[in-house]
Amino acid sequence: MLVLGIETSCDETGVALYDGGEGRLLAHAVHSQVAMHEAYGGVVPELASRDHIQRLVPLTRRVLEQAARGVADLEGIGYTEGPGLAGALLVGASFAHALGEALAIPVLGIHHLEGHLLSPLLSARRPGFPFIALLVSGGHTQLMRVDGVGQYRLLGETQDDAAGEAFDKTAKLLGLGYPGGPALSALAERGTPGRYQLPRPMLGSGDLDFSFSGLKTAALMLVKQQGNAADIARAFVDAVVEVLLAKCVRALQTDGLTRLVVAGGVGANQQLRAALDAEARKRGFDVFYPEPELCTDNGAMIAFAAAQRLGSGAAPGAHAFTVRPRWPL
Ligand code: KG4
Ligand code: ZN
Repeated sequence: MLVLGIETSCDETGVALYDGGEGRLLAHAVHSQVAMHEAYGGVVPELASRDHIQRLVPLTRRVLEQAARGVADLEGIGYTEGPGLAGALLVGASFAHALGEALAIPVLGIHHLEGHLLSPLLSARRPGFPFIALLVSGGHTQLMRVDGVGQYRLLGETQDDAAGEAFDKTAKLLGLGYPGGPALSALAERGTPGRYQLPRPMLGSGDLDFSFSGLKTAALMLVKQQGNAADIARAFVDAVVEVLLAKCVRALQTDGLTRLVVAGGVGANQQLRAALDAEARKRGFDVFYPEPELCTDNGAMIAFAAAQRLGSGAAPGAHAFTVRPRWPL
């Protein structure tokens, strides 16, 4: 089954073609709106929606061309139904449903986080079920147990800021622009470890929950004391990585599993990956990541999730036109 995937939940327009029969991603394209929102220091929802409208048709043409397929070859469409910005989601939903109606093919709304969770299954080295998934994005920080497509159990989550949000807010304090995660990570590479000590929030809480809002406040104190920016960045990254690592290990041990999947934008972070890889070697578990370009928002993960569901015939509400800006997985 040839499935078109559409992602418009926030500030990336993602379109992809996944062949369920071959089990292969044929093409994918992403347009990032980061440059447009940068001037405002964050995403402006109305501008995001308008830009998605302009990008969807050309991006869809591009992936069809790359895969040497025509629009009439499409057999199903998946779009991000939520969570995300209401207006932005509506653009993707309208496009998907209009095209699906015109072609008389099934259209399925997909949970954005399910897309992220399953994205490592698009890699050559893919995890088997069950696995523990660490979802770390700009909007979410969660640990889930995944027993199969559609079988997800929430084990713990952030009580306040998401990890990516903490990266972005701390980067802003250091004058690194928006979104500052990658820049903060690069700056930390030049910092001296241990020069400043930041708290490890909820490290000893005995559960799998997180809290990151205090970290940015602690970093603000150091900025006010005119501390060295690279050393502050290093202290921040080390604190976040230590907490994420400890909770992942705890989740694996509690559930007696040996496979860990890391997904979402912060999963691209090199310091986090190095720490997880080292711990995996030490403790004998396996860590799986999506391909680097599929860590952040993209259409491939939506096409893939839709192909799994449409292919198995399990597509309840396949023709309902809905978006869900707030939607627990
Ligand atoms: O998954 P994603 O693209 O969008 C959401 O659904 O939120 O994640 C974006 C988040 C941003 O907060 C961004 O700063 C962060 O991921 N991010 C990183 C890195 N690359 C992206 N944070 C730390 N290090 C990185 N290398
Ligand atoms: Zn995302």
